[in-house]
Amino acid sequence: MTRVAVLNGPNLDLLGLREPEIYGRTTFAELEAMVRQEAGTLGVTLEWFQTNHEGAFLDKLRALRGQVDGCIINAAAWTHDNLAVRDAVLAFPAPFVEVHLSNIFAREPERRHSMLADRATGFLCGFGPRGYVLGLRALVGHLRGE
Ligand code: DQA
Repeated sequence: MTRVAVLNGPNLDLLGLREPEIYGRTTFAELEAMVRQEAGTLGVTLEWFQTNHEGAFLDKLRALRGQVDGCIINAAAWTHDNLAVRDAVLAFPAPFVEVHLSNIFAREPERRHSMLADRATGFLCGFGPRGYVLGLRALVGHLRGE
């Protein structure tokens, strides 16, 4: 069974309530349900994680070493400036797909750079919650050599 973790950074738990004109009205629980449904269809064991605390995010990546075959990562605001998150992701020994709900390249200049993208297997942004589903599908296809 392919094992995938989805790692979500700060404020993503407010999805549906937070700036709906940017992030939409799908709640974080609904997003998780969508991704879990896709994981079921694909035959993937899924771990879903969100934290607002940088140390917890770093510890999670460490704990997942050898436990999953790949990750979907939305590091939220840490994406743009956090070197410790970059170091932890670079130290992670499995492929990852970077996902953002919004099109970060169509937003403020400080959001148009990702600290992670150059090491991602793939990158999806701007498709809202669907990006997670597409990212999972793409990651699993990559892991299975399809
Ligand atoms: C985000 C984009 C980030 O710039 C922002 O800080 C977020 C969410 C997205 O999914 O579009 O919290 O990662």
